[in-house]
Amino acid sequence: MWLYFHNSVTYECAKTSFKPCVAPLGISLKRDEGVPSGSKGVFTWHWMGKPMSGHITGLDARMILDSRGNPTVEVDCFVDGSLLGRAAVPSGASTGAYEALEMRDGDPSRYLGKGVLSAIDNITDRIEEALVGLPVDEQRVIDEVMIELDGTPNKANLGANAMLGASMACLHAGAAVHELPLWKYIGGVAGGLMPVPMLNILNGGAHAASNVDVQEFMVMPHGFDTFEEGLRAGVETYHALKKELKADGLLGGVGDEGGFAPNLPANEEGLKYMVRAIEGAGYSVEQMGIALDVAATEFHHDDGYHMDGKVLSSEDLADVYSGWLDAYPILSIEDGFGEDDWQGWSRFTKREGHRVQTVGDDLFVTQTERLAQGIEIGAANAMLVKLNQVGTVTETLEAMDLASSHGLNNVISHRSGETEDVTIADLAVGTRAGQIKTGAPARSDRVAKYNQLLRIASDVDEYRSPF
Ligand code: PGA
Ligand code: ZN
Repeated sequence: MWLYFHNSVTYECAKTSFKPCVAPLGISLKRDEGVPSGSKGVFTWHWMGKPMSGHITGLDARMILDSRGNPTVEVDCFVDGSLLGRAAVPSGASTGAYEALEMRDGDPSRYLGKGVLSAIDNITDRIEEALVGLPVDEQRVIDEVMIELDGTPNKANLGANAMLGASMACLHAGAAVHELPLWKYIGGVAGGLMPVPMLNILNGGAHAASNVDVQEFMVMPHGFDTFEEGLRAGVETYHALKKELKADGLLGGVGDEGGFAPNLPANEEGLKYMVRAIEGAGYSVEQMGIALDVAATEFHHDDGYHMDGKVLSSEDLADVYSGWLDAYPILSIEDGFGEDDWQGWSRFTKREGHRVQTVGDDLFVTQTERLAQGIEIGAANAMLVKLNQVGTVTETLEAMDLASSHGLNNVISHRSGETEDVTIADLAVGTRAGQIKTGAPARSDRVAKYNQLLRIASDVDEYRSPF
């Protein structure tokens, strides 16, 4: 294709010459009408004398706030002069060491060092210049141009937050150009699959001020016929948990993902409350199971895993999980072990993978290299999918492809710092991932994703247990 000539089509009117480029047969370049002298513009591609449409003509970027009151990046993508795509970037708290770099200004006098002015400058200067002129529906080319421009293995040059904002804004604009809902644009002719939601109704770890080590206790309504029925059961269970905690005098605030955040005598108490809530809402544990995100990297230290006031070896921790699997309806355990404990991961997956989904989050960081390493040793049977761990849509889809082609499940995920952006809801349906975790049914940053899924559900019926 001729796409890589795009640098040759940016020009400044003051200059009369531009880099020569060879257009394919039938395609010619023509200067935009009425671009004032001295300003920047683009040449329009013409095919048989008619202008071709659907090209990126500009990016705009600004700082907005996320759900924790921290700055984040929002990007607008202009196509043929019109605003057609907008996206905002999420941010983690229990971030994996191998994630792509989130660029923060580090100026302690602004937003406690968390400003994103440098990331925004990178979008409006360097990324915009590189992308202008590209067809907006060539997502792979768009992302590859940015990856090349960045030139580092962890996006340290442009910032993964800058790159992802641009990547997702272009994705939305591409869908708009084709007049398709985003999920359909992503999925093509494969058709959508509604994901089973994992609702994080009890928050602990780095997302709460409580003494609970396990970061997320989620309900997973997998035994229902439709997404709407499953979601309703999850929401009713959230309300039932509130009632149970209130009855025991444990109802305080909520954590970063909207779930309740009580202090508990032991982590296992969280599991007991989950079962009480499921049954209290009138459902059975066959219809609705439990998914945990232990986020074990957070409590892994040099001497072992610090849980419930004890220091456990990797083997001890695996035994704790096996005991829980015997006693509770647990369907999925995410980050049961630390991000460098490859042995612990594969030992546990070999032993228990037949009866529980083991999900790599900090372990794989949505990156093909780490995932390939994990596949090699059977570290997990599922991958958590977070766009901002890798920094572009294309690399996210590549990691998902690698996972599913080796029989691993994909679980689409929000971050603990979110915005009203709902891209992940469409990503889950369009890629037919089958599972999504996006917090409690509380606080608009979480509910926005469930509401988008409810909208999509009026067009997509298919819903089934991934197990
Ligand atoms: P994070 O938490 O966004 O704070 O990393 C979510 C998770 O660990 O899955
Ligand atoms: Zn996690």
